[in-house]
Amino acid sequence: MDRLERVRALLKNHGQEHLLAFWGELDAAAREELLNEIEHIDWNMLSPGAHIQPVKGEISPIEGLLVPEIEARREEFAAAGKKAIQEGKVAALLLAGGQGTRLGYAGAKGTVDIGITRPLYIYECLIENLLKVTNECGAYVPLYIMTSDKTDAETRAFLKEHAYFGYPEGEVRFFLQDMAPATDFSGNILLEGKGRLALSPNGNGGCFSSLRRAGLWEEAKNRGVEWFNVFAVDNVLQRIADPVFVGATLLSGKNCGAKFVKKCAPHERVGVLCKRGGLPDVVEYYELPEEMANLRDERGELVYSFGVILNYLFRRETLERIEQSAIPVHHAKKKVPYLNEAGELVHPETENAVKYETLVVDVVRLMGSCLPFEAVREREFAPIKNASGADSIASARELLQKNGVKL
Ligand code: UD1
Repeated sequence: MDRLERVRALLKNHGQEHLLAFWGELDAAAREELLNEIEHIDWNMLSPGAHIQPVKGEISPIEGLLVPEIEARREEFAAAGKKAIQEGKVAALLLAGGQGTRLGYAGAKGTVDIGITRPLYIYECLIENLLKVTNECGAYVPLYIMTSDKTDAETRAFLKEHAYFGYPEGEVRFFLQDMAPATDFSGNILLEGKGRLALSPNGNGGCFSSLRRAGLWEEAKNRGVEWFNVFAVDNVLQRIADPVFVGATLLSGKNCGAKFVKKCAPHERVGVLCKRGGLPDVVEYYELPEEMANLRDERGELVYSFGVILNYLFRRETLERIEQSAIPVHHAKKKVPYLNEAGELVHPETENAVKYETLVVDVVRLMGSCLPFEAVREREFAPIKNASGADSIASARELLQKNGVKL
């Protein structure tokens, strides 16, 4: 069977034969590209069985390590964390595959300049934060950067041009996140061109399987990496490989650690750490029932107040036992431009498509145990998500200045 026949059979099997509707109009290069895209589809993600099931079990608050205890044991934690870093047991994994849609920025978010009197890029802030730790420890931490088709070329070129902001190039590895096709509401994959599927990044939960596919999982393992510190690109105060956090998580014996800040308002757009059916879990802000978001204890404080800042430590050995297919798939309804049967590009005015994503927050539950670790908001949480108002460049600048960063 030749390649085209194999692809036809595959599509037939999945009821997606329409993807070759314009085959006759494509040149050799476009045909090659289309076959490639079809062969890379992760069919598991699209299967109706993979759709997130409501997690069973009652939601209840979780206990965490709070600032007073962290301060009292700071030296003990820092020493344990520093030792692990010096022994090469900790790697940093930067999630940089997302598109800055909410920020209204077309490029890779990390390349945004937030300086006032001098250029100061988001990537620069992150790498400076990491350098503080590696200088203190006298050891570098391997830095794995997950990009996507939408951010890869720009991110690589940008960091090279800026000499990795002083981080050794040999410690930096890039890997591409997988893409997932969008479908219509009946499950038919959409085309965005005659030879192109409507693809978008498959969510940040794909980071470990993509790391594997790139051959970097083995590399990390061979280097002796035991912990992955997974963090988001958008928080310019992010502490990466924070020795105190690393030490506390290691000494706790848990399989993961999650940094959180006390939520500033019931509806702040952060996931909330809690227990669900007895297991640690994160409930995303759009899933938290109204009465739980507003629930207060006798001192008037929010009961579900541990807002995750997307800075996790995951034990590699435990991750190895988790199947990618165990991570639930979220379905998001979006407006996605598509080719109609006549081959014309349609820009829909209302939601017409489903995007499929897995999320790193869902990995917390699968780890089985977790140490919630409180971070001081003013020192560690300055996310840049929106064009103005809360979590914007303006709010992040203010926090950077409070932390002595010259803008
Ligand atoms: C995220 C967290 C939320 C947390 C909040 C803190 C998720 C799903 N939610 O929310 O629990 O409280 O940050 O600020 O993670 N990314 C990829 N590939 C993708 C999609 C995203 O690499 O396909 C990366 C982004 O580049 C970014 C990070 O994941 O670094 C967070 O993505 P985003 O979708 O912006 O999450 P939030 O809704 O802000």
